[in-house]
Amino acid sequence: MEGFPPVQPYVPAQRSTAGVTARELRHAARQVLLRNWTGASTVPSQGLYPHQWSWDSAFIAIGLRHVSAVRAQRELETLLAAQWGDGRVPHIVFNPSVPLGAYFPSPDFWRSSTAGAAAGAPKTVETSGIVQPPVHALAAWLVHRADPAASRRRGFLRRLYPKLAAWHRYLTEHRDLGGHGLVSVVHPWEPGMDNSPCWDAPLSRVEPADPASFRRCDLDHGCPDDRPTDLDYGRYVRLAADYRDHGYRDAEASHPFAVEDPGVNALLIASEYALADIADEIAPEVVPDPVAAARSGPRTEADRHRARARRLTTALVARLWDAGAGQFLCRDVRAGGLIRERSVAGLLPLIVRGLPRDVVDTLLHTLGGAHFGLGDSARLVPSYDLRGPVFDTRRYWRGPAWFNVNWLLERGLRHHGHPKRAAALRATMLAAAATSDFAEYVDPRTCAGHGTRQFSWTAALTLDLLARTAARPAGERDTGGRAGDRAAVRAGVRAAVRAGARAEVRVRDGRAAH
Ligand code: SER
Repeated sequence: MEGFPPVQPYVPAQRSTAGVTARELRHAARQVLLRNWTGASTVPSQGLYPHQWSWDSAFIAIGLRHVSAVRAQRELETLLAAQWGDGRVPHIVFNPSVPLGAYFPSPDFWRSSTAGAAAGAPKTVETSGIVQPPVHALAAWLVHRADPAASRRRGFLRRLYPKLAAWHRYLTEHRDLGGHGLVSVVHPWEPGMDNSPCWDAPLSRVEPADPASFRRCDLDHGCPDDRPTDLDYGRYVRLAADYRDHGYRDAEASHPFAVEDPGVNALLIASEYALADIADEIAPEVVPDPVAAARSGPRTEADRHRARARRLTTALVARLWDAGAGQFLCRDVRAGGLIRERSVAGLLPLIVRGLPRDVVDTLLHTLGGAHFGLGDSARLVPSYDLRGPVFDTRRYWRGPAWFNVNWLLERGLRHHGHPKRAAALRATMLAAAATSDFAEYVDPRTCAGHGTRQFSWTAALTLDLLARTAARPAGERDTGGRAGDRAAVRAGVRAAVRAGARAEVRVRDGRAAH
């Protein structure tokens, strides 16, 4: 099957499995997005992450399209307006009205407009100099499909397509550090899974920056046990400062941390297929490519994206598949060899079309096996091996379950023909979002919330899950709705509704227009 099933309309009367109506949960999620909207984009969280983040915005747009398709378009447009001349999409776009001391590393650390000038950093907006996973073309395509008429009227895809194509070109042309056709990340913040145990070995070779040279702001907003350690931060700062001091030029930077990550590459493949869909939509006519035409006749832009996606898929399997582990692993490009830690990133290729059947079957088995435990020892898919030596139920990407990852795996389950498993995962995600007040991440076994609350992508992806029909196929047991949880679910929803009420009033009064 090529492509995912179309988004189904929202069914208002349906009850979520947690005992809260879908309507109540949808309302609460919508409040979070309204509150966190700044007028041009959405902050992931008002205290901890007060600017615009790249992959957050992509996931946020996927949910925001159910609130306002035009606002979701704006979310992506604002991000891509800060794209660099070399095609990179920075991982943070800074809001100039937020004080420098509100977030670290701040614009005066990255100095993009000066240090990044040779790489084409924009002059009028400050950004970081690293990237995050390329979910944007997938998001743009889903946003378009939410309201194709509005999208065509605003020329949404026509304007975004060249930017998205340049973004993918940056990754494939500047970041193939291993030389075998896959993209490498050069900083643990780039794959978005900052303190994954997969980075422990490659990071151990990085000399940490002097702790006195910076002050973490994240600990002002969160519990230290939920966040990366000071030693991690010292290394993050060292890597980012070195990249900056090489003008963010990939050909000149030494990139002591270079890793091929299966999650990043799987998302690139999914987004290449989305770019093909976008190209078909905006330019279905044949665009001759002289080289291809000489070989096999003219091919369209869309054909070229599909061919690139297939090449990336072949490289992904050849470089990162480990049949013994039953999953994809990360590759340490500097030390050479696979990193023998089980990250959930190694299951994300389930979103990729055209994987070999035995690989898909093995991944589906691993998802429910002892290491990730879905439907058995875990209620949501953990970010790291439940049996791993450093598994931690609460510390950021060293165990907790994240909603964006679980949303991707729910898609993968549906795509590969497992609607019941997908429905069970969806029901648990909805219950966890409600009981945790849209937590940033949760304990994968108990769904207890950790990190910040009212987190935008948790709310956005809740909206997206609610927009599907058939939350519980006939005859399936109520997986997410333990009776004892119901009061907590209701309390969580009410708290979220109260917190968002003021934002709803602002929107009604026209103070937060599209
Ligand atoms: N995720 C990182 C943070 O915690 C950086 O993007 O700030």
